[in-house]
Amino acid sequence: AVNGIQIAIDGPASAGKSTVAKLVAAKYGYVYLDTGAMYRAITWVALQQNVQLNDELAVMAVVDKTPIHFAAGSPDQLVFAGDQDVTKAIRSENVTNNVSTVAALPQVRAALTAQMQKIAAAGGIVMDGRDIGTTVLPHAQVKIFLVASVKERAQRRYLENQSKGIEVSLETLEEEIQARDYKDSHRETSPLVQAKDAQRLDTTSLSVKQVVEQISKTVDQYLNHQG
Ligand code: CDP
Ligand code: CDP
Repeated sequence: AVNGIQIAIDGPASAGKSTVAKLVAAKYGYVYLDTGAMYRAITWVALQQNVQLNDELAVMAVVDKTPIHFAAGSPDQLVFAGDQDVTKAIRSENVTNNVSTVAALPQVRAALTAQMQKIAAAGGIVMDGRDIGTTVLPHAQVKIFLVASVKERAQRRYLENQSKGIEVSLETLEEEIQARDYKDSHRETSPLVQAKDAQRLDTTSLSVKQVVEQISKTVDQYLNHQG
């Protein structure tokens, strides 16, 4: 591909997807797309408007009225729902604990998937989510499935919360992560599952740097053998 390849990074909550996806994108000069942020943005708007989150038609009305876009920001990309900056709001516990309900709606998935595919069409992209390698970009040249133990992932989220001054117990975080993993893995449409041709990477005892190195190796291998 003239403009670079497509790299899909999937896995359960807090496995490190967005952290390493950003670093891999920067390393290759690719665009990074946080697909979870899109589901979170719709969930945030739906919550704001007191929409029943399992009412598919009502949530679809939100999707149709809410263009989502990203803008450069530091340290993190900015996320907009319509003209509202929702970068911080979409990380709240309330959104986190409700997003899987919205993400289970087939029509919502179809609409957001189409938006993601449009963005990825040019190549030179790293996307992270749950179904990128299986559904959104089935032809991605590199597919990574990141996993880590629940304990380690809860610990990671705990540290992240601490740095933001948010206080949620480790035990609660573990339960929340397990509940979300369960919902994401058991929904009918595009559940969280490893693509057959994805490389599985257990990051439980790896540093961010080590994970980025592993993924870069796979990317370089692909790029060097492209001919
Ligand atoms: O960063 P974290 O692992 O907490 O989650 P996220 O990537 O922000 O995704 C939030 C939620 O969106 C997930 O729990 C899924 O329910 C949903 N999601 C999805 O269904 N498909 C994707 N491609 C990305 C996210
Ligand atoms: O996107 P996802 O929910 O999979 O995870 P994240 O938002 O990137 O959060 C992962 C957290 O674990 C970050 O605070 C990282 O610094 C940390 N971490 C990691 O991502 N990978 C490791 N191998 C070790 C720690």
